[in-house]
Amino acid sequence: MELTVNLKDKSYPIIVERNARLTLRKHYDFTGKKALVVTDEGVPDIYALEVQMQLPEAYVVTLPQGEKSKSLENYVKLQKELLEHHFSRDDVVIAVGGGVIGDLAGFVASTYKRGIHFINIPTTSLSQIDSSIGGKTAIDFENTKNIIGTFYQPELVLVDLNVLNTLEDRQLNNGLVEALKMGICLDKNLYKIFQENKQYEKLDEVILKSIDAKRQVVEKDEKEENLRKVLNFGHTIGHPLESFFEMNGLLHGEGVASGMLFMIEDKALRAEVKSILTNLGIKVTNDFDRKKIMEYLVNDKKAGHNTIDIVLVNGIENYEIKKVTFKEVENILERKI
Ligand SMILES: NC(=O)c1ccc[n+]([C@@H]2O[C@H](COP(=O)([O-])OP(=O)(O)OC[C@H]3O[C@@H](n4cnc5c(N)ncnc54)[C@H](O)[C@@H]3O)[C@@H](O)[C@H]2O)c1
Repeated sequence: MELTVNLKDKSYPIIVERNARLTLRKHYDFTGKKALVVTDEGVPDIYALEVQMQLPEAYVVTLPQGEKSKSLENYVKLQKELLEHHFSRDDVVIAVGGGVIGDLAGFVASTYKRGIHFINIPTTSLSQIDSSIGGKTAIDFENTKNIIGTFYQPELVLVDLNVLNTLEDRQLNNGLVEALKMGICLDKNLYKIFQENKQYEKLDEVILKSIDAKRQVVEKDEKEENLRKVLNFGHTIGHPLESFFEMNGLLHGEGVASGMLFMIEDKALRAEVKSILTNLGIKVTNDFDRKKIMEYLVNDKKAGHNTIDIVLVNGIENYEIKKVTFKEVENILERKI
């Protein structure tokens, strides 16, 4: 299946199929091009190797796994690698990994010589469903997530559903929270799959529908001026929760899960979404220091001086993007989830 992201300046294909990683050359002309393949130690190394073997000249860099790899140090390391191998603007960077590798490699590609070609081969459910589409690249800096980054669209995204077979269940479910988010806000048929607890048997459909939902939002609002903010549903409180529970190793989607529940106005829907999250093995939490969460929230890059945009949900495909004061968020945090 091929989807196209149609943007004003650049359009690109997303190929969604089993074993897509093995068909790279079918979708992109590498004649005369060098490639830097970036991956991490948690991604089975065979994937990067299989990509490398299809290319005329490719170098593989394997970084440590985890959020800490989205760092200035690794940014410098990759830039040095490009320089040492005399990469020109005609050459290409290829990410083979989850959102960490995609965000970092995309940022490197966007800034080396003011931008070289970039291909993303996302290998986690989160990166296939969400982070590989839409062109947000970033690194973390001084304990602040995604604070240095660019909008830089890839030229090709290869979504290979088979690589999810090696992903741990917890990571798979972490990504499915983002699919649930898109179902709640944008696609009632996608939501229905979760409602019927069929997300595992219909995993291909879940991923495809999520990609399509995100694609449509990005096409209408590439730089997040308005509509794209809907994709932050659950993130306003989710991000601070992620920072608060960092030591416990809370994953992104796990923070977003609780964050979404706070933003659902309708009690019956809140209860239903909570039970869907239970099906996904996700524990939601009410038990945290509200003051600390507000401190993280105020420092969020999306916050204004005294206000922040939140996404409130009243029903399926029924949401509202609203500017609220920090005081109003404090009240929302008093809700029982
Ligand atoms: N750019 C965006 O629009 C966007 C959107 C959402 C999230 N993000 C970013 O994405 C990142 C999280 O991404 P993630 O959840 O993919 O985490 P991740 O990249 O850290 O991957 C999770 C773990 O899975 C391992 N892994 C990857 N593929 C595997 C496979 N096929 N088999 C076995 N193990 C595998 C990795 O080594 C890692 O340990 C965060 O940094 C977040 O900020 C970006």
